[in-house]
Amino acid sequence: MSSDPSNETLVAQLNKALGLEMRAEVMYAHYAAYVKGINRLHLKPYFEAEATESFNHASMVRNAINQLGGEAVTVRDETPILHTSDYQVILQEVLKTERLAAETYHGILELVTDNEELHDILEQIYFAEVRSVEELTQLI
Ligand SMILES: [Fe+2]
Repeated sequence: MSSDPSNETLVAQLNKALGLEMRAEVMYAHYAAYVKGINRLHLKPYFEAEATESFNHASMVRNAINQLGGEAVTVRDETPILHTSDYQVILQEVLKTERLAAETYHGILELVTDNEELHDILEQIYFAEVRSVEELTQLI
């Protein structure tokens, strides 16, 4: 299967998404710990839930890579996670992350033309990222 060039492109893009999910998980866990001020009351549980969601997305993508006969990356996307306790800066960082995730899954969906099950799984993740972008745009 891995000799199929179109499959290789798909696996490479799924690995990019997996790296982003692993980065997002760490980012949300970090900001849940460090966010300060009155907004911590809302943002800590929100970030914790998003960390869990990123973990679950990573699991789904990892399983997909495995089923395609590919090897999943074990290292997160290397984009640094900005350390801050300022919720406004945090929300901007989070929005950037979610926008990139949505774009990445949108691109991947275009590659999945002959596997309905995989398309459905990835579409669900894509919709979740779009919902996050919409929610964050309301918060900022
Ligand atoms: Fe995600």
